[in-house]
Amino acid sequence: MSAISSPTKSAGASERPADRVVIFDTTLRDGEQAPGCSMNLEEKLRIATVLEEMGVDVVEAGFPIASNGDFEAVRGVAQILKTSSVAGLARASRKDIDRAWEALKDAARPRIHTFISTSPLHMKFKLQMEPEAVHQAIIDSVSHARNLCEDVEWSAEDASRTDRDFLCRCVETAIKAGARTVNIPDTVGYAIPEEFAGLIAMLRDRVPNIDKAVISVHCHNDLGLAVANSLAAVVECTINGLGERAGNAAMEEIVMALRTRHDAMAYATGIETTTITRASKLVSTITGFAVQPNKAIVGANAFAHESGIHQDGMLKHAGTYEIMTPESVGLSRSTLVMGKHSGRHAFRTKLKELGFDLGDNALEDAFRRFKELADKKKDVYDEDIIALVDDEVVRSNDRIRFVSLQVIAGSKGPQQADLELEIDGKTMAARATGDGPVDATFKAIKTLFPHEAKLQLFQVNAVTAGTDAQAEVTVRLEEEGKTVNGQGADTDTLVASCKAYIHALNKLLVKRQKTAPAALSA
Ligand code: KIV
Ligand code: ZN
Repeated sequence: MSAISSPTKSAGASERPADRVVIFDTTLRDGEQAPGCSMNLEEKLRIATVLEEMGVDVVEAGFPIASNGDFEAVRGVAQILKTSSVAGLARASRKDIDRAWEALKDAARPRIHTFISTSPLHMKFKLQMEPEAVHQAIIDSVSHARNLCEDVEWSAEDASRTDRDFLCRCVETAIKAGARTVNIPDTVGYAIPEEFAGLIAMLRDRVPNIDKAVISVHCHNDLGLAVANSLAAVVECTINGLGERAGNAAMEEIVMALRTRHDAMAYATGIETTTITRASKLVSTITGFAVQPNKAIVGANAFAHESGIHQDGMLKHAGTYEIMTPESVGLSRSTLVMGKHSGRHAFRTKLKELGFDLGDNALEDAFRRFKELADKKKDVYDEDIIALVDDEVVRSNDRIRFVSLQVIAGSKGPQQADLELEIDGKTMAARATGDGPVDATFKAIKTLFPHEAKLQLFQVNAVTAGTDAQAEVTVRLEEEGKTVNGQGADTDTLVASCKAYIHALNKLLVKRQKTAPAALSA
C-alpha cells in the first residue's frame, strides 16, 4: 500500500506522520459528474462544511472553467473552509489554470489540480496529441500552476492503461515541474487490486524523485473494485461513492476498512467517523441519489440483523455479527427520539446531537415543521428529523417551491390534483387530472411550470418503518441529454412525490447553465 509517500513538502501535510492517509474528497467535482447529479452553490457550501467537520484533508470543490456556477462554487468553498485544503480542477491549459486560481486564491489552503491523459488511447483519440506534446504540456501546465499556487496536484488521466515507461517519465516530469501530489487515476475502473498496487509500487521504485511528492490514487467503480483498488494503493474518494458512470471509491468504505482492519493495514485517516452517516444522508438528499439499502456502512440494512441465528448471536455478543459498531459511524442504536410533547430545548439538543447547528430563525422554522410532523406521526425518529431539516435547507434557494397539494385518488377516476406552487416568489395554482394521482400531480406541475423534461425514474422508499413512516421519493428527469435527480420526503407519498419532482426541476434549472468542457486544448 502506498500511503501518501513522504509528505514532506505538501502544504498542510508536513505535520502528518508518514502512515497517515490523506483523504481527498471529490464529491463536489467528480461526484457531481454522476449522471443526474448537480448541486447549487448553497448545497455545495453545505456539503463542503460537513466535509471539513469530518476532517477531510482536501476538498475538491469543482472545475472552475466548466461554468460560472462551478467557478462560484469553488470560490465560495475556498472562502469558507479553514482547515481543509480546497482544490479546483483544471485541464493542462493556461486558461483553465488561471480560472482555477482565480476561484481558489482566497482559500486558506488552495490547491490547483491539473490533469492530462497519458494513455495511448486517450492521447490518440481524445486529445489527438503526440506523446511528446503531452509531455511538454505537463511541463507547461504544472510550472504555470506552480507559479500561481504552492500546492499543485497533477493527475495522469487513464494512468492504469498508460504505458509504464511513459507514465514514469510523466510522473518524474510533473514532480520536477513542481507537483507536490501526483495522482494515478484508474479513470475507467479497469484495474484489479494486485495489479494496481503493483503499478504504485513500480512508480515508487522507478521514479527517482518520487519521494518529493505525495502519491494519490483516484479509482472508479466500473467493475465494482474502486474501494479494493484504493485500499491496495490509497486514496481519492467521494461520499456514497458518487461519481462518473458507476461512481468512485466510497470514502466511508475506505475509512472504515482502514479503521476496522488496522491490524492488516496500519494506516490512519483524520476522519471523525461518527460524522459519516450524517454526511452520507446530506449528500443523498442534496443530490437526489438514494443510498441502496444494502450499501456497506451507510445503507439502511448495514447494521440490521434479520435472521434468527444472527439476532440470537447479537444478543449474546454484538461482535458475533458486527465488525464495527453503528455508533462508530454516527448511527444511534436507539433511534426512537421524540414525539409531539417534546419541547424546543429537547429538539435543539437532538439537532446538535445529529450534527446540525442552526441559527435562531432556522431553528424556529425547523421546530415548527417538527411539530407539524409529530402531529401526523406518533414516533419521530432521528432519520425523520434529518430528512425534515435537510429537506428544508436543501430547498432554501429554489426558484420553484412547494406550497400545497390536494389530491383526489382511488379506483373511481378521474384522479385530480389541486396544486399551489411559488415560482420566483409568486404563488400560482393549477388543477389537473391524470392516470392516477401521481400523474395528475406531475401534470399540475407542468401546467404551472411548462417544460419538456421526460420522467425517467420514479422511486419510493420509506424513511423508517411503520405505516405512518415518511415516504422518500426519488424522481429523475431528462432534458436534452441532461439528467437530474430530485428527492422529497413527507408522510404523504403524493406530497413527497411532488416535492421530489420540484427538486429535480430546480436542479435542471441549475444544470441548464452548465456547459461540458471539451477534452482539452493544451
Ligand atoms: O477519473 C479521472 O481520471 C479524473 C481525473 C480528472 C482526476 O477524474
Ligand atoms: Zn474521476
